[in-house]
Amino acid sequence: MSVSKKSIHGEWSSRFTFILAATGSAVGLGNIWKFPYITGENGGGAFVLVYLLCVLAIGIPIMIAEIMMGRRGRQSPINTMQFLAEEASADKRWHFLGWMGVLAGFLILSYYSVIAGWALSYVLKAFLGSFSGGDSEHIKSLFDQFIASPWQLIFWHTVFMVATMVIVARGVSGGLEKAVRFLMPALFVILLLLVGYAMTTGFYEQGLEFMFDPDFSKIDGDAILTAMGHAFFTLSLGMGAIMVYGSYLPKHVSVAQTALYIAGADTIVALLAGMAIFPIVFANGLEPGSGPGLIFQTLPIAFGNMTAGWLFGVMFFVLLVFAALSSSISLIEPAVAWLVENKDMSRRTASIWSGIVTWLVGVAVAFSFNIWSEITVFDKSVFDLLDYLTANLMLPIGGFCIAVFSGWVMKKEHSQEELELFGLTYDLWHYLVKFIAPAAVFIVFLHVLGVF
Ligand code: TRP
Repeated sequence: MSVSKKSIHGEWSSRFTFILAATGSAVGLGNIWKFPYITGENGGGAFVLVYLLCVLAIGIPIMIAEIMMGRRGRQSPINTMQFLAEEASADKRWHFLGWMGVLAGFLILSYYSVIAGWALSYVLKAFLGSFSGGDSEHIKSLFDQFIASPWQLIFWHTVFMVATMVIVARGVSGGLEKAVRFLMPALFVILLLLVGYAMTTGFYEQGLEFMFDPDFSKIDGDAILTAMGHAFFTLSLGMGAIMVYGSYLPKHVSVAQTALYIAGADTIVALLAGMAIFPIVFANGLEPGSGPGLIFQTLPIAFGNMTAGWLFGVMFFVLLVFAALSSSISLIEPAVAWLVENKDMSRRTASIWSGIVTWLVGVAVAFSFNIWSEITVFDKSVFDLLDYLTANLMLPIGGFCIAVFSGWVMKKEHSQEELELFGLTYDLWHYLVKFIAPAAVFIVFLHVLGVF
């Protein structure tokens, strides 16, 4: 019987470890690098509100569904989907969902690793005291010069990719578990410190107003799609990452409660990052919509101005790299788990091959910030295109299918048995995945396509 089956890849030692690992997956560049810059590009408050609504009504129910499906299937997402489809006597082709997830994971990691490389190089810059003085012009040119150099970007991308694959080769529940246990709280503390600095800029209120005062005239269909896509991205949903982590989760752990913790922690980190960054933006007359470089053009100003700033700068970027690492391993884990299960590879070989493929695509991303910046497809650079394709399209489509599968295809007694939720709580979850989440994704897509 599948119900008593354990994953061949091992199991988390406790519920707490699962929460750490899944939070580690969720909290990453998405919260600290991406959330502030897309909020800036999309006008602030209204965008943030749509994002928060998407986390609540779409993200959390789908996270519960993903963990639940993973734990029931106990294999890589591809094989889990096949198993669950058979169990529900549904079409076997549902396992395409696993395939799409593996592809999305590769594509996301290829640019994720390049950006994580930026954070790595900023550890060194902070250490060398490059931010001292904290002059915003100087900080900006530091960044511009850095991304103009393809070789620097590729060097740091390579370092990050190798680190990711070494960890993945050893199995995700090893050392990283211990690292995340103290790195996450440390990251949280340093973010509080940065928010404290933001309060001294004299522009704190303006920053908060930008983030929390919704002006709906500033957003259009594409902004709504970006907000929804980001809800998936930041919670690591829609591609099987949380599903594969769920497959290592012991029985009799409350899936719903766990999902609430993860989503709560993830949201708080993103909001803190925004609250640290926007006051600095306004205090220095910077542009909130200046794009992917936003945190690298703002936070160094804070480090350059505060006492012992170089030390806090080093700490911050080191922690950011670790947050990125604990996310990147979850992006590649579905692929590695599948290679181990179906191709009879060792974790090591599987990691090396997946790493090489991802690294190659990442090189194109690195070039798209400099020598290939003129090359565009649908008016987007390689980086923008990959980001749009994955976060705005593949993840919502994957999430839609997961919601439909858990709400319509899976037998109610199976999901109920797995979730151990009863009465109203179960009904609420079921209603959300059956109707609200799929309908919301569908409506946003129709809106973007201009149907209404
Ligand atoms: N959630 C991570 C972040 O915010 C990124 C990430 C990790 C991810 N695993 C994922 C995004 C799976 C989508 C799907 O940085």
